[in-house]
Amino acid sequence: MKSSPISSSMCSFCSAVWILILLQISHVAGHFSIKPPKNPIIGYLEMEVILPCQIETLKPLTDTNINVQWILDKSSQKIEVKNYQGATEDKRYQGRTQLFDSEFNKGNMSLLLRNIHLSDQGLYTCIISSQKWYDEAVVELVLAANGGDPTITLADYKGQGIGLTCSSEGWYPRPQALWLDSRGENRTEKSAIANTEAVAGIFQVFGSITLEPGVDNEVSCKIINNLVKSERESRILISDAFYPTSSPWIAPFIIILVLFGCLIAFLAYKWRQSLQEVSQFEKETSQKKRERVCEKEAIETEKCTFQAALADIQERQERLQSELGKLEYF
Ligand SMILES: *[C@@H]1O[C@H](CO)[C@@H](O)[C@H](O)[C@H]1NC(C)=O
Ligand SMILES: *[C@@H]1O[C@H](CO)[C@@H](O)[C@H](O)[C@H]1NC(C)=O
Repeated sequence: MKSSPISSSMCSFCSAVWILILLQISHVAGHFSIKPPKNPIIGYLEMEVILPCQIETLKPLTDTNINVQWILDKSSQKIEVKNYQGATEDKRYQGRTQLFDSEFNKGNMSLLLRNIHLSDQGLYTCIISSQKWYDEAVVELVLAANGGDPTITLADYKGQGIGLTCSSEGWYPRPQALWLDSRGENRTEKSAIANTEAVAGIFQVFGSITLEPGVDNEVSCKIINNLVKSERESRILISDAFYPTSSPWIAPFIIILVLFGCLIAFLAYKWRQSLQEVSQFEKETSQKKRERVCEKEAIETEKCTFQAALADIQERQERLQSELGKLEYF
């Protein structure tokens, strides 16, 4: 098939336009161009980060009159982050930025940003200009923060089960939190997880779950930062002994308690009984004592009457003898 002369001339026209456009761009951009980073740069809260700005060049840059400027585009407001030739920078960035001057000849115009804040997130433009050329590239800074290991707490008893809580703070962006079993699968129990914004946009996680007796006793609380694919996990293994009913020590404990109670009751009974015996005995002894006293008194009175009778008898005997003596005279 013969190619149409119209379409082939159209094509060469297209190429010509493309070449012109490319020439125009490289003319505007100058001799060099910046290699923009493919992905956003991730910075960790309160750490430092390097925002890359690399000029594509094979030979060292000899231009001494270069200016490097970093600007943050924040909701239609342009914030001066760094200016190599010393124009005043924004207060928020003072003392937190640095350029690698000694790397300039290699085309490295990267910016070091220290102690990064949540508000540092955004689109940064690296602008490089000399008398002969000019180029700029946009670098996106995204923040991340990994919280601490989750803390699992045995919170309380919930009926026959045990209530657990899990907490961790210091996350950004909003993390994902899961309750898992010993095989790393989602638990089927009723659970709740809330990740709320705490201080200045940083997230904290608070979860709860109730474990029923007789289920998989190994629980883990896992918190995932999906932006940086990092996770923190804490595990706990709850022994059956901690469940309120199925505790193996509870039955012996109750038996011991009952036996102890019986022993105390028995001892108390015995004690009371012996007290009663003692008082009975005392009563009896005092009764006997009194009886003896009475007997003694009775004996004494009898003795008296007896003595009186004896005295009477003696008196009579004496009288009788004297009368007998009188009779003998006759
Ligand atoms: C620029 O230089 C700094 C400091 O030596 C280095 O850490 C960084 O990786 C360099 N950047 C590029 C894009 O080469
Ligand atoms: C567990 O649940 C989360 C959502 O709640 C889901 O993203 C995840 O894939 C689940 N994992 C498994 C192992 O089923």
